Amino acid sequence: MQYAEITGWGKYTPPAILTNDDLATFLETSDEWISSRTGIKERRISHINTAEMSALAAKHALASAGIEADDLDLIIIATSCPDTLVPNTASRVQQLLGSNNAACFDLSSACTGFLYALQNATAQIRFGAAKKALVIGAERMSWFLNWNKRDTAVLFGDGAGAVILEATDQPYGLLNAKLGCDSNARDILSINNFGTDMDRYINPPSELDISFQGQDIFKRAVRGMGKATETVMEEAGLSVEDVDLLVPHQANIRIIETLQSKLKLRDDQVMVNIQNYGNTSAATVPIALCEALEQGKVKAGDKIMSAAFGAGLTWGAAYIKW
Ligand code: ACO
Repeated sequence: MQYAEITGWGKYTPPAILTNDDLATFLETSDEWISSRTGIKERRISHINTAEMSALAAKHALASAGIEADDLDLIIIATSCPDTLVPNTASRVQQLLGSNNAACFDLSSACTGFLYALQNATAQIRFGAAKKALVIGAERMSWFLNWNKRDTAVLFGDGAGAVILEATDQPYGLLNAKLGCDSNARDILSINNFGTDMDRYINPPSELDISFQGQDIFKRAVRGMGKATETVMEEAGLSVEDVDLLVPHQANIRIIETLQSKLKLRDDQVMVNIQNYGNTSAATVPIALCEALEQGKVKAGDKIMSAAFGAGLTWGAAYIKW
C-alpha cells in the first residue's frame, strides 16, 4: 500500500504589511470594526506575482524535504489568482524552480483549493502515477480587490504555502478527506467581470471585483466545514481528544470560533493566524500549517484535521497523520 507523507513545507508571506489603521486612512472603516467582526489586524500585500510567491514557498519546502526541484514529478498549484490564463501558473513555477520532470497544473477551487490539491496529489501518489509532488496554495488577492469597497477590501491578503509529498509504505500524510460543492449557492460568492459568461459582467466592466453575501457565507461555512470535519473524524475513528491540531481556513475568527465550539475543541487544538494575514484564500491552510510547525505545535505522529470552505461553494475536510 502506498501513502503520501508530507516531508517538506514552506511559506512566503510578503514583507509589506497593511494594517487596519492604514486602511482607515483611505476607507470609511476602523481597526475596531475590522478586528471585532473578523479578527484581522493586518494583511500582507505582494509586489510579486502568484508564481513568484509560489516558487519562494516551494524552495523552502524543497529544502526542508532535502530534495531537488528536478526530483519532482508533479506540481499542483491551487489558486484563484493565476498569473496568466494560458499558459498555466504551475508551468511558470516549474520554470522558476528549474524543475524539468513534473506534470504541472492549476486547480481552481477557491479557499478549499489546497485541500482539493492535497487530495489529488495524494491520490496520484497512491495510484503510482507520481512519487514526489509539490502542492501549493497561493493567492494574490490584492489584485482583485476594489480598494474603494470597504466590505471586501478589509478581508483579504496575499501569500503562498507549499508542501512536498513523497511516496512511502508507512501510513502517513493525508489518510482521509471529504470534499464537496454546494453549487446551488454558487452565486453568493464571485469575482465579477472576468471569464466567458457575459451575463456576469457588471459595471464598470473593466474592473475585477469580488462580491459576496457575507452572512449567508458565514452560516454555510460553519455548517459545511463542521459536517465535513465530523464525517472525516467518524470515518477515521477519531474522537475530539485524538485531534492534536485543527488547521482551519482563515476567513473570519468568528467562523473559526463557532466551528471550534461545534466540534468541542480546546483553544490549544486550533491554529489561528488570521490576525496577521487576513483571508489568503487557498493559501491560508498551508501558511497556517507551516506556522504551526515553526511554532512547535506539530510533532511526529500527530493527528491533524483541516477544514475549508470557499467559492463554488466548495467545502472540505482532511485528516493528516504527521
Ligand atoms: N468598516 C466599517 N463598516 C463596514 C465595513 C467596514 N470595513 N464593511 C461593511 N460595513 C458596514 C456595512 O455597510 C453595514 O452597514 P449598515 O448596517 O449601515 O448597512 C454594517 O457594517 C454591517 O455589515 P454586514 O455585512 O452586515 O456585517 P457582518 O456582521 O455580516 O460582517 C463579514 C461582514 C465580516 C464579511 C461577515 O459577514 C463574514 O465574515 N462573512 C463570512 C466570511 C466571508 O464572507 N468571507 C469572504 C470570503 S469567503 C471565504 O473565505 C469562505
